Amino acid sequence: MSGVTAPGVTSKRPEQPVEAGCDGLAPVVGVNSLDVRLDGTHVLRGVRLAVSEGEWINIIGPNGAGKTTLLRAVLGLVAYDGEVSIEGLTKLRRAERARKVAYVPQTPVIPPGMLVADYVLLGRTPHRSIFAGETPADRRIAAEVLDRLDLRGFGERTVQSLSGGERQRTVLARALAQQADVLLLDEPTTALDLGHQQDVLELVDALRRERGLTVLATLHDLTLAARYGDQVAILAGGVIVQRGPPAQVLTVANIAEHFDAHVRVIDDPEGPVIVPTTAAPDTTTAADGAASQAQHAEGVQP
Ligand SMILES: Nc1ncnc2c1ncn2[C@@H]1O[C@H](COP(=O)(O)OP(=O)(O)OP(=O)(O)O)[C@@H](O)[C@H]1O
Ligand SMILES: [Mg+2]
Repeated sequence: MSGVTAPGVTSKRPEQPVEAGCDGLAPVVGVNSLDVRLDGTHVLRGVRLAVSEGEWINIIGPNGAGKTTLLRAVLGLVAYDGEVSIEGLTKLRRAERARKVAYVPQTPVIPPGMLVADYVLLGRTPHRSIFAGETPADRRIAAEVLDRLDLRGFGERTVQSLSGGERQRTVLARALAQQADVLLLDEPTTALDLGHQQDVLELVDALRRERGLTVLATLHDLTLAARYGDQVAILAGGVIVQRGPPAQVLTVANIAEHFDAHVRVIDDPEGPVIVPTTAAPDTTTAADGAASQAQHAEGVQP
């Protein structure tokens, strides 16, 4: 590993200005020239990304593109070259970072035998000193979050005894109980039924509106990625190859190129809907142009 020895704390590279957020202000999450090597594999190559206060960016990309690695670098959980800043700070102590950034991992590690109520209360740990027990306020916050995630009555169950979707909501509950300004979500809806997918993403959106939560998420469901959040960024080949409004990024050609997938993109008023197809569409420019006129009448985005 040629990167930093203390993850997320120092950089060998000269400082470069962090890319401004979409509103031109200093970003809440700033990633600049980020390089990560894992066991000799160069996973991220000069990634630049800025997320403004209250903004929600969905990172998409094929398996192994480095999406989880990017989130882990923002958290300081992997060594990197380059710069990561949270609210303008590049050098954060672990506890300080935990108060500012909450994380829902793709593969959470849950202590065996732990009760749901105790697991959610772990989210309050960054807010108290090491020897202090939880306060009534901590318990109230944990109970409120369980309630909002449709988990009332689950507190005395062990996390292992839950179904996959209940467990995923419990992990999100721990992150929300943390009441951090930044929320990193790694595939937060994979195990959820359709109703709970909507509940969870709408709750995150409500928190964003209520208290300016900044969200950086990875989602494999491209239609959900288009519907929730402000912008979509494609991570491929270790770099962000495109970022922008969903309708601009989620095109047939981009999805074919970066996911090797055959899809139709339906132009719905709430955002593009991505439908897998069995036949490979023609993604050449000429065909796109000709097809777009014919498809427009059917509400299909070329
Ligand atoms: N500790 C490690 N050692 C070596 N390679 C690793 C290690 N951790 C991850 N990788 C590799 O780094 C690449 C990026 O992994 P990462 O988990 O970030 O991908 P991802 O985009 O989140 O994929 P997915 O969509 O499957 O979740 C993958 O090829 C993975 O095998
Ligand atoms: Mg991943």
